[in-house]
Amino acid sequence: MKKVLLFLFVSATVALAQPAGNADSGKRLFVRDGCWQCHGYAGQGSRDGARIGATALTEQAFVRYVRRPTGAMPAFTDKVVTDQEMADIYAYLKSMPAPKPAKDIPLLNQMKNGK
Ligand code: HEC
Repeated sequence: MKKVLLFLFVSATVALAQPAGNADSGKRLFVRDGCWQCHGYAGQGSRDGARIGATALTEQAFVRYVRRPTGAMPAFTDKVVTDQEMADIYAYLKSMPAPKPAKDIPLLNQMKNGK
C-alpha cells in the first residue's frame, strides 16, 4: 500500500512540474515556429507583435497566452509547440537582456529636453 501511495505521489508531482527549459533549443524553436516574424529576432517587438524579450510574464501565464491568445496572435496548440518546446522558448526569452529604461537613452533625453 505504501508503495502504491508513493508511486501515485511521485507521478502526480512529475505531471504537475513544468519541464525545465533549454534556452539554446528555445532560440531555434523561436525561429522554426515563426515567433520572430511578428516579435522580431531579439523579441524586441514590431508593428505586428508586442515586445516579448525578457518577458515579465510568469511561465504559466506565458504558456496560457500562447496556447489561447486573446488578441490578434494566432494560437499555438500543443500539437504545434509541445510543453517542452514552450518551456525552451520561455527560457530563451528570459535569457534576453531587459530593455534599458528610457531615461538611460541619451537621444530620448535630448528630445525630451528639446535640444
Ligand atoms: C502573426 C504574428 C504573430 C506570431 C507569428 C506570434 N505572435 Fe505572439 N503576439 C502577436 C501579437 C499581435 C501580440 C499582441 C497581442 C495582440 O494585440 O493581439 C502577441 C502577443 C504575444 C505575447 C503576450 C505578450 C504580453 O506581454 O502580453 C506572448 C507571450 C507571445 N505573443 C508569444 C509568442 C510566441 C512564443 C510565438 C511563437 C510560438 C508567437 N508569439 C508568435 C503576434 C504574433
